[in-house]
Amino acid sequence: MPGFEFFDQREIDAVADVINRKMVHRYSFNDCRDGIYKVEEFEKAVADMVGSRFALAVSSGTASLYVGLKAMGIKPGDQIITSPFTFIATVEAMAECGAVPVFADIDESLNMDPASVASLINEKTRAVMPVHMFGAAADMDAIAKVCHDYGLPLLEDSCQAMGATYKGKYVGTFGKWGPYSLDPYKLLTVGEGGMIVTDDEELYRVMEYAHDHGHVHDKSIDRGAERKSGLGMNFRMSEIQGAIGVVQVEKMPGAIKTLRENKAKVLEAVGSVPGLVRRSFPDPDGEIATQLVYILPDGESAKRFQAASAEAGVGCGILSGNSWHYAKHWDSLREWGRCARAHGMDVPFYRPVDMEVTEGILCRAVVYGIGVTASDESLETMAKAIKAGAVAA
Ligand SMILES: Cc1ncc(COP(=O)(O)O)c(C=O)c1O
Repeated sequence: MPGFEFFDQREIDAVADVINRKMVHRYSFNDCRDGIYKVEEFEKAVADMVGSRFALAVSSGTASLYVGLKAMGIKPGDQIITSPFTFIATVEAMAECGAVPVFADIDESLNMDPASVASLINEKTRAVMPVHMFGAAADMDAIAKVCHDYGLPLLEDSCQAMGATYKGKYVGTFGKWGPYSLDPYKLLTVGEGGMIVTDDEELYRVMEYAHDHGHVHDKSIDRGAERKSGLGMNFRMSEIQGAIGVVQVEKMPGAIKTLRENKAKVLEAVGSVPGLVRRSFPDPDGEIATQLVYILPDGESAKRFQAASAEAGVGCGILSGNSWHYAKHWDSLREWGRCARAHGMDVPFYRPVDMEVTEGILCRAVVYGIGVTASDESLETMAKAIKAGAVAA
């Protein structure tokens, strides 16, 4: 659950310091800022944490996806295979590039089912983008193999999973570039923000210029005199966000440890309940434990589980009803597809009926949020509610 849960005096001091120095722009004012660049510090801290050569801070996770896709040359009509269970931003970033999202199925990990990818690949496919939902990695070995077999770039939407690993490697570092969201719901939050990591210097430079109107940044001259490289937009992060980020990234390991402990407490209190099955994990050791998901035998038992859990004092969501994270609910995408087809583009219909494998899982998946600052008492109440749900299911 969100990093603002554990905001304290350190974030307040960090913001106050930026305000006191009146240096809110991440670039510019080079001769009077005493060499202090908070966004740069934050970028370096994230790059060090995940082990990538470069990190570029941007204004949102959505911006990180868009800038990454643009920089790698994704163009109108290109198809990208992704998951229908994701936040809508994944497909918005693609559509903004004119690219066409194509949905694979998910499996009981709630992430892309690698076995469903190959049949979707055609001459227009430009990349495969699994989404690491709820802080846990997709099956990266299997997805990387499909990409390798078909000569396609493997991308990731790692916006929900900063800090998670797959077999010891940080999510976001498997493809040529990887995005993170730092929005108010994320474990590391700066209010609103995003980060892109990459080992590819050339790509990093393209992204750096593109996220700031094409500025070729040069601290030795005035910003107004900088050279231009390509058209860009403004997706800059401010020093206020950078300063919060520097503090938050230091808190990340402790926050992840606490989340894992809190989740373990709930699981231990629930104990072994026959028939109660959790979401599967391609790498259980790498998840950051932001959520706890159970997969019930069918949709009706999920509803009974949900009602009994609420009755016992803790509500849980059934994932098929999640309108912002499940493509079945996206009339706006269907409308976009209709317009694109009218312009001669090859775009799927995104019909709910074509998502029946995903629906078959999400309609019986119930989710609880795990808090960093959750009390032992609240974790015990959650465990009791889960047991009540299991009995009723
Ligand atoms: C999977 C996924 N992708 C992209 C985003 C977009 O991030 P932001 O809200 O920072 O734009 C989110 C945000 O929740 C997300 O969950």
